[in-house]
Amino acid sequence: MRKIKTGVFGLNPLLDGGINENSTTVVIGSSGAGKTTFAIQFIRKGLEAGQEGIFVSLDENKEQIIREAVEMGWEEIMDYLKDETLVFIDASGKDFSNFIRKELHKFVSDWKGAGARIAVDPLTPVIWAVESNYEQRELITLLLKLTRKVGTVLCTLEEHGTEGDLSGKETIIPMYLADCVIHLRYKALEGTNSRTLKIIKCRNSWHSEDFHPYRIINGLGLIIQHELTERTIKRESTEKLMKALEKNAERLPENIYKRMQKAFKDLSDSELGGITHTELMRYIIDEYS
Ligand SMILES: Nc1ncnc2c1ncn2[C@@H]1O[C@H](COP(=O)(O)OP(=O)(O)OP(=O)(O)O)[C@@H](O)[C@H]1O
Ligand SMILES: [Mg+2]
Repeated sequence: MRKIKTGVFGLNPLLDGGINENSTTVVIGSSGAGKTTFAIQFIRKGLEAGQEGIFVSLDENKEQIIREAVEMGWEEIMDYLKDETLVFIDASGKDFSNFIRKELHKFVSDWKGAGARIAVDPLTPVIWAVESNYEQRELITLLLKLTRKVGTVLCTLEEHGTEGDLSGKETIIPMYLADCVIHLRYKALEGTNSRTLKIIKCRNSWHSEDFHPYRIINGLGLIIQHELTERTIKRESTEKLMKALEKNAERLPENIYKRMQKAFKDLSDSELGGITHTELMRYIIDEYS
């Protein structure tokens, strides 16, 4: 799968280079966590790389979004709007849920394969526009399944209730359906350093499982801090693992040997956690010899 950069400083290495093209990502966070800023950075990055952008705003109007974008150092947003490489849609939850049901098929057949970036900020009113869990699931499935044909999709989600409790149905349904889930954990009452990012899942990709502090900086946007989490940084034990594999080549069927070689090639120490190379080799040999 091809990776595309998120546009959020510091985040790409935590996703093994970025998010997968034509995938769907959900960014969850409470009020003020930085969801809209994240969505703007994502769309901006695409436009700068020559991709088209579609920004669907469910609760702020175009002027507000433009103001926020300019504050984050993105004056060129006006040019993209003018030449229509950036399309801005301002809708209510009800309008947008009707659009998904009635007009999304047509829209997708017009835009199919465009390789655009689509942001929906926030998705929550769309979920609230329909009543039953069944309908909510159906609607979100339809949205995520169809829009990914147009490009790479990012939806933000409001986090309500106790911080970190993501079990509410308006978060749980999109979390299951999306390919990648990123949680912006923000404790508004705890002052500075109260923001941490956690990647909850990312299908078909390695990702960091740590908590990463982040900041929102004027003129830049979200900056995610990370130290030795970069996948490629520490590979001492994986190199040893490769050597141990070579030594045991005769004890393993050829196809398994090849499979293990492939698996070890990009492995980092952080993925292995506390599992040592001798231990892992033992498990593999036990299983196959
Ligand atoms: N120009 C700026 N400079 C520094 N920090 C900023 C700036 N603009 C926004 N922020 C920070 O980002 C926070 C809001 O970010 P954002 O609007 O992206 O959050 P949100 O998750 O979309 O919030 P909401 O749920 O209210 O829509 C602000 O509360 C502030 O802390
Ligand atoms: Mg917002």
